[in-house]
Amino acid sequence: MDAAFDIAGEAAPGASPTSPFRPVVQARGLVKRYGRVVALDHADLDLMPGEILGLIGDNGAGKSVLIKSISGAVIPDEGEIRLDGEVVKFRSPLEARVAGIETVYQDLALSPSLSIVANLFLGRELRKAGLAGRILRTLDRAEMRREAREQLSALGLMTIQDIDQTIDTLSGGQRQGVAVARAAAFGTKVLIMDEPTAALGVKEGRRVLELMLDVKRRGLPIILISHNIPHVFEVADRIHIMRLGRRIAVIDPRQYAMSDAVAIMTGAVPPPPIEKWATGLPAPHASAHG
Ligand SMILES: Nc1ncnc2c1ncn2[C@@H]1O[C@H](COP(=O)(O)OP(=O)(O)OP(=O)(O)O)[C@@H](O)[C@H]1O
Ligand SMILES: [Mg+2]
Repeated sequence: MDAAFDIAGEAAPGASPTSPFRPVVQARGLVKRYGRVVALDHADLDLMPGEILGLIGDNGAGKSVLIKSISGAVIPDEGEIRLDGEVVKFRSPLEARVAGIETVYQDLALSPSLSIVANLFLGRELRKAGLAGRILRTLDRAEMRREAREQLSALGLMTIQDIDQTIDTLSGGQRQGVAVARAAAFGTKVLIMDEPTAALGVKEGRRVLELMLDVKRRGLPIILISHNIPHVFEVADRIHIMRLGRRIAVIDPRQYAMSDAVAIMTGAVPPPPIEKWATGLPAPHASAHG
């Protein structure tokens, strides 16, 4: 039983593995130090089922290190992470991906010398049906190319001419598009996006927002990190604000102005207390169907 339900009281008796009020991802007390730099200073996070959680904070607030701790790219020094209530200790991004957590990194973890198709299917290549696939492990290249093309055109990224082009020949925005397509296609539990629209044009940025809403409709929760506050306010159900390596507030975007969020983020005004609904209860006005 996690603390959220103890506080919640009414949620505790019914908190089953499928409880809509149990966080999909819950981080508690994460600490990460790099020499004398404290990147995470007892950071918490709660991602609820089916929601888009905006994650905002100034440069260096610890946003990327926090999500990297969840996606296996960083191993925290202290603290605990739960996925669907179970403690997880990922030692690599691949382990997190196998568990269903897909991440678009701010610093784009694509393999530059591999093609778009190869990057999309890295670590989960499709094999041919029958003996060739099972025994000889023959890759089903045609199917991978077909799916890759479908993913990218669904995202409106068919400005990419050649699916066999290597990543290092793509523009920054095109690379970001490939990373977003890969995450959206393969995420089964959680999608994490660290500045997914930073390198994109206005039109492509909008498409990524629409894609996020699509993914949410599919029932997958998303963590969105962005310095684009209007984007965050547009799609987020709740906004987690970080400052100096910790979560200082969780706000409901319908009840705050963007300027207030920024004032909290920069320390210009004190954060409001973290309410119960921020850590495992639905927002007061959330309907049963979200
Ligand atoms: N590999 C590392 N080695 C040393 N320090 C690091 C490392 N990674 C992060 N840091 C430090 O940890 C702190 C938090 O960094 P982080 O990348 O999480 O910030 P952020 O909130 O994502 O910022 P931004 O908005 O600029 O992306 C910063 O002070 C950063 O310099
Ligand atoms: Mg960052």
